[in-house]
Amino acid sequence: MTKHFINILDHSPEYLGELIDRAIEDKKLFKQGKLPQPFKGKTLAMYFEKPSLRTRMSFEVAMIHLGGNAMYLTAAEIGLGKREPIKDVARVVSGMCNGFVARTFSHQAVEELAKFASIPVINALTDFNHPCQAMADLMTAKEHFGKLAGLKLAFIGDGNNVARSLSALCGKLNVKFVLAGPQAYHLKNDFVKMLKANIPDADFAQTTDPKEAIKDADIVYTDTWISMGQEQEKQKRINDFAGYQLNSELLALAKPSAIVMHCLP
Ligand code: NVA
Repeated sequence: MTKHFINILDHSPEYLGELIDRAIEDKKLFKQGKLPQPFKGKTLAMYFEKPSLRTRMSFEVAMIHLGGNAMYLTAAEIGLGKREPIKDVARVVSGMCNGFVARTFSHQAVEELAKFASIPVINALTDFNHPCQAMADLMTAKEHFGKLAGLKLAFIGDGNNVARSLSALCGKLNVKFVLAGPQAYHLKNDFVKMLKANIPDADFAQTTDPKEAIKDADIVYTDTWISMGQEQEKQKRINDFAGYQLNSELLALAKPSAIVMHCLP
């Protein structure tokens, strides 16, 4: 069966941990000029419905470093599910490429691509989650702290795509996860139920009190209050998140050794 990377919850802690360790090792090999090139002659299709700087570049540059090619496909060009059914796009891309990265608004679109593709589909952000972002973030944390288990991550802000993936990955890798945000922006019950069923011993909490969340945190994380596609809610969100700005006063309550992370922009 083709192995996709669409949701952190689909994978075992062992596999996720190994991927992070492998990436750390490969980064060292790359710096020594010793990275193997297993993707020679292989092409990665990359479909983006939303803007991207870091995510797109990281995939494209990685393909170059690993000996392969990447092909950037825009929504205007492909018209996923409009110009052609998702099923047909999945089949055509599978026939000519070796991997398929997709950033879509709808999470179902990526799931449907995976259903019909015979090559690995990698989720490069949907409205629901952002698994590669979480992997890269905890890779950075592991490089910095030398370990992950036992750390505490405080997420101050919107319980959106990035928070979902981070909470899942923290649960898988024994990192305590606490989200602080206005009640209406907490991760919703259906997601929390799914998380707890998948990872029964996940150390997961949500609060409206940012001071409580940030106490003793090793990693302090925040995301934009206005995600791509929510531009029309800008003023309301700025008002709603007023007490949740990550500033030096709040940061003073984290561990002195804490690092601050943001998925940007
Ligand atoms: N929550 C943000 C993440 C950007 C990397 C968004 O969806 O726009």
